[in-house]
Amino acid sequence: MHSKESSVQYKFIARSRQDTARLAAALAEVVTPGTVIALDGDLGAGKTTFSKAFAKHLGVHGVVNSPTFTLIKEYEGRMPFYHMDVYRISLEEAEELGLDEYFYGEGVSLVEWASIIPELLPEAHLQLFIEVTGPEERQIRIIGYGEPYETWCRNLKENGVLSNE
Ligand SMILES: Nc1ncnc2c1ncn2[C@@H]1O[C@H](COP(=O)(O)OP(=O)(O)OP(=O)(O)O)[C@@H](O)[C@H]1O
Ligand SMILES: [Mg+2]
Repeated sequence: MHSKESSVQYKFIARSRQDTARLAAALAEVVTPGTVIALDGDLGAGKTTFSKAFAKHLGVHGVVNSPTFTLIKEYEGRMPFYHMDVYRISLEEAEELGLDEYFYGEGVSLVEWASIIPELLPEAHLQLFIEVTGPEERQIRIIGYGEPYETWCRNLKENGVLSNE
């Protein structure tokens, strides 16, 4: 068991959409089947922008839209990509969706507004918080809960992609 309190927090400053896309690309390079990424941040922070870049670098062709109304969209890239947005639903409704099938499936799950459903996320996951710090600037805080996420974060720090808080 890992403790949430002791988890190391990393930081990425994006000064443009392209920077946000660069972080998404770096993560898309290391993910494996069964990866779960929780994305949070205010309306318009850049969650879907991040997701689109992530999908592209995962090898998904075609248009990736916000799944706000569809809740879950499935794409095929180097591995399946499950794009979810739980903004419009309650925890109770989310429980009915059978998300475990995705979280423990063969693809990468990326959940926008994951903080609405903390109880439904696997304990091990990668958390990203996007904060608006300027018209084009975003501060993205990243925490890896459990393995392999903690190792990925440490490696991205060593590669100069992430910095310490
Ligand atoms: N550095 C940046 N990173 C990401 N998005 C940026 C950045 N700078 C500006 N933007 C703009 O901010 C907006 C982010 O919108 P996006 O739909 O990605 O947000 P969201 O977090 O998914 O919002 P919602 O919760 O409403 O779905 C886009 O218009 C994007 O172009
Ligand atoms: Mg969105």
